[in-house]
Amino acid sequence: MSACELAVDWGSKKFGDSLVLDNVDISIDRGEFLAVLGPSGSGKSTLLRVLAGLEHLTAGTISWSADGARPRTGVVFQQSLLLPWLTVIENISLARRFTAHRHEFDHQYPATLLRRFGLDRLAERYPSELSGGQAQRVAVLRAAATRPRLLLLDEPFSALDPATRIDLQQWLAELVADIEATVVLVTHDVDEAIALSDRIVLLDQGRIRREWRDVRNGSDTCSLREDILQQYHPDEVVVP
Ligand SMILES: Nc1ncnc2c1ncn2[C@@H]1O[C@H](COP(=O)(O)OP(=O)(O)O)[C@@H](O)[C@H]1O
Ligand SMILES: [Mg+2]
Repeated sequence: MSACELAVDWGSKKFGDSLVLDNVDISIDRGEFLAVLGPSGSGKSTLLRVLAGLEHLTAGTISWSADGARPRTGVVFQQSLLLPWLTVIENISLARRFTAHRHEFDHQYPATLLRRFGLDRLAERYPSELSGGQAQRVAVLRAAATRPRLLLLDEPFSALDPATRIDLQQWLAELVADIEATVVLVTHDVDEAIALSDRIVLLDQGRIRREWRDVRNGSDTCSLREDILQQYHPDEVVVP
């Protein structure tokens, strides 16, 4: 049994009168890849932002295993949010400019990451010279360059075309195997969740409706997919 990385206990979040997270109880193991699946508006991004420390719970607690403090965390959003006046290598090295990282930042690591994950020929390009898929790869490497212990991904590939998206999913799986982070991926794509994660939780109107464990080790992907789709809010199910 792996050590617990973080736990949310009875976590609730209100914006004004609206309850966006409703008694969410979840713990995540060190090194686990968790997918948080759910229809639009179900509270996925809010949960991720709570894990990132960008939002605070209205009630309940979040606790961290490593000496009780939030571990170093990298976050990637749907848009790459690259700085347009910096090259790819400069964007990936961005964290070294911030006080919190300056002393620990490994200056060789961005170039190593670019080489290892197939982007070295893009190093001197500017964001305007990248495709959407390339820009998202750079955004993921920028997060990885700080050697995060926790990597939080909020629909990082959902603006991409399906073929690029599948490429990036495979690329992400290789990256994650290499950097040994605990990963939380927010997505509304059932296949993406199945392809990448160890465990899936389905969020519905701010509550965890169901959970599936041993996703990648499970053999029957088709029935898992069916099962997950059946749990989705009926309005959101799109049967291909
Ligand atoms: N900063 C905010 N202020 C007010 N309401 C918000 C805020 N952020 C999110 N919400 C609301 O919370 C609900 C859940 O949003 P969100 O977590 O973004 O869902 P998801 O990522 O699953 O689409 C939505 O109804 C959204 O409008
Ligand atoms: Mg969202």
